[in-house]
Amino acid sequence: MNDPAWRSRATIDGPMRVANRMHLRATGLDDEAIAKPFVGVVHTHAEVSPCAMPLAPQAAAAKVGVEVAGGTAREFSTVSISDVWTMVHERGPQFSLISREIIADSVELVLEGQRYDAAVTLGACDKTVPGMLMAMTRVNIPSVYVHGGAALRGYSNGEPINFYRVFGDMDRTLSGEMSERELENLNRDAMVSVGTCPGLNTASTGAACAEIMGFSALGTASIPAVFSQRLALARKAGQHAMKLLIEGGPRPRDWVTRESLENAVTVVAAMRGSSNMLLHLPAIANEAGVKFELRDMTDILRRTPRITSLIPNGPHALIDLHRIGGLPVIFKALLDGGFLHAHTPTNDGRPLGEALADAPQPDGIIVRACNNAYQADSGIVVLQGNLAPGGCIVKTADISMRFFEGPARIFEGDAAARIGIADGQFSVGDVIIVRGEGPRGSPGMREMLDAPIPIRRRGMGKDVALVTDGRWPTGTGGLCIAHVSPEAHAGGPLALVEHGDIIRIDAEKGTIDVDVSEQELEQRRAVLPPNKYWSGGVGEKYARSVGPTHLGAPTHSYD
Ligand code: FES
Repeated sequence: MNDPAWRSRATIDGPMRVANRMHLRATGLDDEAIAKPFVGVVHTHAEVSPCAMPLAPQAAAAKVGVEVAGGTAREFSTVSISDVWTMVHERGPQFSLISREIIADSVELVLEGQRYDAAVTLGACDKTVPGMLMAMTRVNIPSVYVHGGAALRGYSNGEPINFYRVFGDMDRTLSGEMSERELENLNRDAMVSVGTCPGLNTASTGAACAEIMGFSALGTASIPAVFSQRLALARKAGQHAMKLLIEGGPRPRDWVTRESLENAVTVVAAMRGSSNMLLHLPAIANEAGVKFELRDMTDILRRTPRITSLIPNGPHALIDLHRIGGLPVIFKALLDGGFLHAHTPTNDGRPLGEALADAPQPDGIIVRACNNAYQADSGIVVLQGNLAPGGCIVKTADISMRFFEGPARIFEGDAAARIGIADGQFSVGDVIIVRGEGPRGSPGMREMLDAPIPIRRRGMGKDVALVTDGRWPTGTGGLCIAHVSPEAHAGGPLALVEHGDIIRIDAEKGTIDVDVSEQELEQRRAVLPPNKYWSGGVGEKYARSVGPTHLGAPTHSYD
């Protein structure tokens, strides 16, 4: 079976590679196994979170699939870090986005350094999904992504618990409306198995993008983490990676095209999934040399109807979606509504339209047809203007406010904002700006869990607007503008705003501007002191290499 065209042969064949063959034999391989193609099976299994814990058995099944199909599987792992953990302590939010790069880079290192012929990648938390997809696209060898699957949700008094209510309960406990004992008891029942968060968080939104773009087999991402079906699908993924190698078929860069990226944004919009994917999709595009930035998503987010009622936009968990046919139900509804490109290649190479021909119809509750949507748009709006030339985003779904104009109240970073907002250092009508929290300034684009809590608790969400080059958590309330790009640390216009400057936000028109002349802004820029980089550790390396948010915060150019 040995084929000199396989990449791995450069490390194995001939007298010069005798040391490598010695190594391979020392790992337990015989000559027959060494003569086969090498398939890397890489996962983020760890005990650091429930998200990462279901991956080892799935990786083992993927290895069986590779071996059954005539390959030699080599397993390795990389890091995973959970936003639930990182969001709640001082330096934690710096690390999550950085982990996306570490995952992509570490997988590239092994797949390229050891010259594997093909790969199966498995991920299961917010940054593991884009990290794996970036690595696959960068290395561009035959490969399949397997998503680890969501956790089973819990029940209380016979009623399903909406995972996201934990944050509301946390607020109620802090304000004394709920006892700590009640909080703890509800929390005990909220998530009852390993797996990713059971609603539309970044991991499951990313997995949906992976499925529509072709990285994963159709119908697989919604299968719960603990279902035995997952072992069968992982085994199939191993076989499929071998098929892609031996028989040919799409490579990752065939899956990453402008059309497939537009399809992915359409799916995010139709589910009103995690807006973090609007950051990750340009980064995945960058790996394929496709220029796809935040502004390219503006019209799609406006015109795509929300057709699902998945948590947190409705009562249904991913397991409910799985029971009516999984993500292909959503894809088919969008295709029938004329919202998707039908010719993009799926995981097995068939065009999307052909592959979805027999997908189930919407049930009318968890998924609706596009002409009977829950909402006419995605509820996520891209804004652009002289305050954010590269764009920024605002979630308008659950609020009636579309327009806000007021004086800027500036806080230099999350720590200052937490103290200042808690002290009431703002007035009704202010546009509260928290700057210096972008990918480079933070570094790592902090999601600021604590800063808006006093505003939320006092029911003042509609009295102020919040603007940052970092991120706000889901359910912050009011007009919360995030991802402002370019960020303040990189000299974006947000850095030039002064207390009292009038900021105008119009979510109908999609604009965000500061009412200061270009000439005045340039004068302010001329005297702007240079920003210092974060010093030390991974944060320094990241801050010195990361690019703008609207391009996906990439840390390298396309090559
Ligand atoms: Fe891992 Fe939510 S924290 S998916």
